[in-house]
Amino acid sequence: AGPGALAGTTVTITAGGTREPLDPVRFLGNRSSGKQGTALAAAALAAGARVRLIAAHMDVPAPEGVELIRVETALELRAAVHRAAADSDVVIMAAAVADFRPAQVVETKIKKRDDEADPVITLVRNPDILQELVRARDEAGTGTPTLIVGFAAETGDDTSDVLEYGRSKLARKGCDLLVLNRVGRSLVFGQDETEVRILSPDDSPEAALESAAGTKAEVSARILARITAELAA
Ligand code: C5P
Repeated sequence: AGPGALAGTTVTITAGGTREPLDPVRFLGNRSSGKQGTALAAAALAAGARVRLIAAHMDVPAPEGVELIRVETALELRAAVHRAAADSDVVIMAAAVADFRPAQVVETKIKKRDDEADPVITLVRNPDILQELVRARDEAGTGTPTLIVGFAAETGDDTSDVLEYGRSKLARKGCDLLVLNRVGRSLVFGQDETEVRILSPDDSPEAALESAAGTKAEVSARILARITAELAA
């Protein structure tokens, strides 16, 4: 997307990894660094958009010029993104949202006691925020946000398998674009480089899917260019 390509549009981006508390000092988290989400925010700013960054835990600073909303848990991120979506043209869900959270948050630090059995952590499902955004738009019938973009991080070695996961995820979530990448312990998460495929519901199975590889900044520019084209279509 060139400079000014997104002037007059509001883009909301979620980034980083949620942290789900167990007690006042412990949480369940994930390896998301926030690099992809912040790179997208920088690219959207460069294209002239008003950018809201809903940031869960990140290892990197937020780019200057975004409206920064800090969140910790999936439920906080959900509230923030629903509020922001109401007047956003584009929502990009780049955050790694915990699928589960501890059923109970213990008020005081969990202690080890010799006379007690090892503790068991019960998890409950978090809502699927991306799916909710799509449903809320369908129900409201306003067409806002115009474009809802999901991310999918799949582990797997066989590319066709990964693509198949991506397609079924796109269908399940109902979003307008799905950015698919493969992750592993040292792949993508925390790294500066990435490789993605951009899936859309219009892609025929034989269609050459748009792919982009490079730094997260380069890939973000490609994703924003695609978003700009979709908005213009
Ligand atoms: O289902 P999965 O976690 O692989 O889907 C990833 C996409 O869904 C990402 O865009 C992520 O931000 C979003 N997501 C969500 N709510 C969840 C889990 C994931 O919106 N509870």
